[in-house]
Parts: sequence; C-alpha cells; structure tokens
Amino acid sequence: MSAPAHAQGNGSERIWTVLDLLKWTTDHFAAKGIETPRLDAELLLAHALDLRRLDLYLRYQEPVAADARARFRELIGQRVGARVPVALLLGEKEFWSLSFSVTADVLTPRPDTETLVEAALARLPDAERAYRVLDVGTGSGAIALALAHEKPRARITATDISPEALEVAGRNAEALGAADSVRFLRGDLFSPVQDEFFDLIVSNPPYLARADAGALAPELAHEPEQALFGGEDGYSVLRPLAEQAPDRLEPGGWLLVEVDPNQAKTVGGWFAAAGLGDGEILKDLAGRSRAVVARKPTLSPGSEVPGRRD
Ligand SMILES: C[S@@+](CC[C@H](N)C(=O)[O-])C[C@H]1O[C@@H](n2cnc3c(N)ncnc32)[C@H](O)[C@@H]1O
Repeated sequence: MSAPAHAQGNGSERIWTVLDLLKWTTDHFAAKGIETPRLDAELLLAHALDLRRLDLYLRYQEPVAADARARFRELIGQRVGARVPVALLLGEKEFWSLSFSVTADVLTPRPDTETLVEAALARLPDAERAYRVLDVGTGSGAIALALAHEKPRARITATDISPEALEVAGRNAEALGAADSVRFLRGDLFSPVQDEFFDLIVSNPPYLARADAGALAPELAHEPEQALFGGEDGYSVLRPLAEQAPDRLEPGGWLLVEVDPNQAKTVGGWFAAAGLGDGEILKDLAGRSRAVVARKPTLSPGSEVPGRRD
C-alpha cells in the first residue's frame, strides 16, 4: 500500500478521498502500535482539513487536495515517529466538555480526572454559597476551570509550581470567560495560600514513580516531568500534600486527591492519620481506584480549631 502523498505510476496522481485516507492511516497507526488508531486518524485529518471531526463523516467520498494531504502526512509522521500525542499536535483537548489549549508545558487533561471534578461538585451542593475552593497543581487549569464553569459563585484559587503552566492556565481562563472567577498563584503546594482556609481542596498531583518510567507509554515523554513524577516512589508530592492540606481546610471542608490505583489505600491512611474522617476511595470510568476523598471534622462545641473568621 502506498502512502497518501505518493503519485501512482501511470503519470496521473491517485485521487485520495477522506475515507481512503482514514482507512490507510488507521491501518498504518495500528501497525505502529498506536492505541486508538481510527480516532487519532480522524482527529488529525479533521485538523489538516480545518474541519470538525464529525464533519468528516459527511465528506467520506470527497477528494482531499494535495496541500491538505501534505499537512496530514506531516502530522502522521510526528504521531508515529516521535509519538507526539494527538492533543499536542492539535494544541487542544476537551475536558468536561470544555476546550483547553495544551502545550508541552502542561499535562494534557485526562478523562479520568473528570472523576475528581464530579466528586468535588457533589460536595459543593449549595448553588448560592460562595465556596472557597483550592486546586493545587492546576496545570492547564482543567479542574479549576471546570469547577468555575459549574459553580460561578465559587471563589476559586489555582496554584502551580510551574510559571509556564500558569501562563497556559491563564490563557484558558480568558478563553473560557472565567478570568475573573479564578485566581492563579505560583508556588510549592500551600506556600501561596499560607494564611487561607478553604471549603474544598482538590488536587491531581504528579504521582507516577520515576522507578517505573521505563515502562510508560512513549507519548508521556512529551509531558512535563514535574507534572508526571512524584519522585522515585511516586509519593514525593502526594505525601506533603496529604500532611499539609488539613491545616488549610475549614472545619467540615473536603480534600479530594487523584492517585494511581495502587496508591489509594496508602493515601487514605495518611488522610486518616492527619485527622480527616469520612474517607472514601472513588473509582474512575474504568472502575479503578482513582481518587481519595476525606473531610475535616466539624467543630465540636468548645474546641478551638483555627479557621476562617469572616
Ligand atoms: C498531574 S499535573 C495536573 C494538572 C491538572 N490539574 C490536571 O488535572 O490536568 C500536576 C501539576 O502539578 C504541578 N506541580 C508539581 N509539583 C508541584 C508542587 N510541589 N506544588 C505545586 N504544583 C506542583 C505540575 O507543574 C503540574 O502542573
């Protein structure tokens, strides 16, 4: 089978339709071990043609011009050669039905993280209340901006240690019309919010173990290291996060943290040891333990737990 850009031997260029290109590329991607070959082919061809993916289905029999085929071929080369993820080739990723710009400076938001958004929303039930919410390690702003979209009255703070990530998050906030709803701060864990208290703290921290790096999908090489790895064992950010978060919670406030499935019990144990109660492990779309949730006890009469007084 010849590649989409090759001329045929009889002097006239072969006509490649949308469907021809999708079939050829799907087979090519599958042969090269790409996990979702048809989907990737559709997304990249739609991008090369400047169409929405669904519009391809109405144009299966239409020929694709040489310049669009050249753009498509270039994308195919990057996807297969350097294993650049589709989201990075497109420069955008949908999360919580919102479109996020993504660059090499941020983690591409994952569908699994929607578990965390859903669980956070369930714990912010009062539509009128101006809940104080903190997203630690916001990356592209995915969690903070999804929450801002659903809870316009919430006062959301989003932090990250990476200034480059915060730039991307800020641009996403502008594009989604949420620049006034989310405050972005740079710093390590809770250092930018040292004297503040929150009704809910949510975080998808870097939690992969560097010791496992060799076994990871090649696509991950295109994501920022400090978004992926939590030290040798995966816990270098998770552990201080679990230890320090309770001090920043209001009485009755919630802590929700995404984890690798094999970390859920350990992290749940830390939450309990830090005095949090109502601990729960949440499953992702594939049924794997994906998030740990717990709550700071509410004040009992006469106790003196520091908290917001406004
Ligand atoms: C796994 S990514 C999550 C990004 C985004 N919240 C999401 O769910 O798509 C983790 C983020 O935490 C940031 N980060 C890593 N270590 C941090 C630290 N010590 N303090 C604050 N942010 C940190 C990284 O820069 C990265 O943006």
